[in-house]
Amino acid sequence: MTRKLDLPDAPEAAADAAMSAPSALRNREAILSVLTRIAPDRGRALELASGTGEHVIAFAPAMPGLTWQPSDPDPIRRASITAWSARHPSENLLAPVDLNAATPGWAETEGPFDLIFLCNLLHLISGPEVDVLLQEFAAALAPGGIGAIYGPFLRDGEATSEGDASFHASLQAQDPAIGYKDVIDVAAALTGQGLHLFETVKMPANNLMLCLERR
Ligand SMILES: C[S@@+](CC[C@H](N)C(=O)[O-])C[C@H]1O[C@@H](n2cnc3c(N)ncnc32)[C@H](O)[C@@H]1O
Repeated sequence: MTRKLDLPDAPEAAADAAMSAPSALRNREAILSVLTRIAPDRGRALELASGTGEHVIAFAPAMPGLTWQPSDPDPIRRASITAWSARHPSENLLAPVDLNAATPGWAETEGPFDLIFLCNLLHLISGPEVDVLLQEFAAALAPGGIGAIYGPFLRDGEATSEGDASFHASLQAQDPAIGYKDVIDVAAALTGQGLHLFETVKMPANNLMLCLERR
């Protein structure tokens, strides 16, 4: 059952640093319905690449047993997260931290976490950066912890919609090192790090959400 979120669709005023991402507003309810189904009841939750903060301000009140840690390496995005959090405070929502998820070592310094969520980043970084990110992602999950990765993927090497093909091509035109990753390779990297892929959920706009557990 889909719940209607009691949150605004866009910043009410430009008086603070709050930014709005149309895609985050479009996919927020669908992501929330998967996360609330698979998330542990309590513990520490990390959102990587939080962006504007419009996801985490909905996740924290919906999963009150988890303490939510938003993060982003971009100070402008962190200011946006802080501004949205001030408008929609939750006791279990922490201030954003500066975290580059493609840097080795963060699992050790920041972890462990009972839930880690990542949305819409893997296609924007290079293959070697993805390798480090997935290694740290897996290492940062506590035993029994749940990982969720949402985004667009190639499937068997192919983009599976016209929109995906053109977005992937435009990313590679900007920088040949980036672009969509194959879901098979991402899943293999994570299972190779000891995670169990228990569900692959079809999401809006031809995206997928990989649901993983450290057993
Ligand atoms: C397309 S936005 C996605 C934001 C948000 N997750 C969403 O879905 O609305 C990509 C975000 O990743 C952040 N980012 C870029 N490189 C990163 C990295 N190496 N580690 C963590 N976050 C990164 C950017 O600052 C930006 O906020």
